[in-house]
Amino acid sequence: MLISSSSGVWLQTADGRQILDAGGGAIVTNIGHGRPEIAQVASQALERLDYVVPVFATEARVALAEEVSDNWLPDPSWRSVFVSGGSESVDAAIRVAQLHHVACGRSERHKVIGRDVSYHGATLGALSAGLHDRRRKGLEQALLSMPKTSHYDAEELEKVIELEGPDTISAFIGEPVIGAAAGAYVPPDDYWPRISEICARHNILVIADEVMTGFGRLGTTMGHEALKFTPDIIAAGKGLGGGYVPIGGVYCRPDVVAPIAETDLALMFYTFAGHDLCCAVAKKVLEIVREENLIDRARTMGDILRGRLEQEFQDHPNVEEVRGRGLLQGLGLVADRDTGEPFPRSAGFADAVSGIALENGVWVYPSGSGVFDDAVMFGPPFIVEEDQIDQMVTTTRHAIDEAVAALS
Ligand SMILES: Cc1ncc(COP(=O)(O)O)c(C=O)c1O
Repeated sequence: MLISSSSGVWLQTADGRQILDAGGGAIVTNIGHGRPEIAQVASQALERLDYVVPVFATEARVALAEEVSDNWLPDPSWRSVFVSGGSESVDAAIRVAQLHHVACGRSERHKVIGRDVSYHGATLGALSAGLHDRRRKGLEQALLSMPKTSHYDAEELEKVIELEGPDTISAFIGEPVIGAAAGAYVPPDDYWPRISEICARHNILVIADEVMTGFGRLGTTMGHEALKFTPDIIAAGKGLGGGYVPIGGVYCRPDVVAPIAETDLALMFYTFAGHDLCCAVAKKVLEIVREENLIDRARTMGDILRGRLEQEFQDHPNVEEVRGRGLLQGLGLVADRDTGEPFPRSAGFADAVSGIALENGVWVYPSGSGVFDDAVMFGPPFIVEEDQIDQMVTTTRHAIDEAVAALS
């Protein structure tokens, strides 16, 4: 399939078909496709400046850092470093945590605790910190060994810390709502506050991987707000550039980076980190989200989407659960809802559902791994309308039924 243009919530193929972007690409296109003012900002940025090595400031870099700290981070004093995507932001966040402890004279703190169902990106470091079994397959031996704890039981973290030795751990990393690995799984209400408490007691930095949940997606400014905790470091990407440019970032409290600045240690930059064009566009994307009240809209349309999914699938024999927060919603797909029996992995069920939905004009994001194997996710642009929500839900139901029929 050749995609030739995009506008609003729609992708157009070269042969004239329209595809409803219910997955927002890979949960990326927060403000929707084809905004002409973004193209204008991009063109002006390139006329002004092209490549500038990341150690120099540029107007667009400074402006984006101010936009983010003034409007999106837990406190305006937080510091930002921009990178080119989510995996890079996670790798950089892990490096910041490690350098922080080394700068504080605790070089024995080198381990990062991740979770038993999680996805943090495709670099070797990010794959090691996460546990998405399908995406690690064939690479396990090349990955670093990093301890894992439960995605739902915060108390297990205490046991893992004891086992590993608190003095060996630099950071804990987790997604506020688990995206690709679990199809929008939301942990119990007390999970994140309890994780924060345990980490603070052991001087372990909490890294929130907000690559998918950041910048309004959950109907709150950042995802950690919806889950009622404040991390020490945030890694984020995707919605920051809204799909118009590849950009991510690492954000942290000033006291996390201050000790590093007092040593000869440094966070090595990626060559294209904070590209001026990407920063200029990302700033415009965030302004649009704020000025058009799109966070409120993500919350309102998220509620409507959730209601429609519950109505359509509450008795469906192959939907175990409707889950998610804001405009990040998912369906857990199983062979038998009553017993919870999964589809055989060889069936590639979520991919089959997504393929059939696509043939019928809707892109839904196939996801899931481990105990959450087989899920689909909805993460449309925040500008989505009610009739489009209806179309994505109806088409997905048809796709699930057809995929089940094809199996039997
Ligand atoms: C939570 C999370 N972290 C990190 C990543 C990696 O981001 P990227 O694919 O932009 O490198 C993803 C991508 O899906 C993600 O969902």
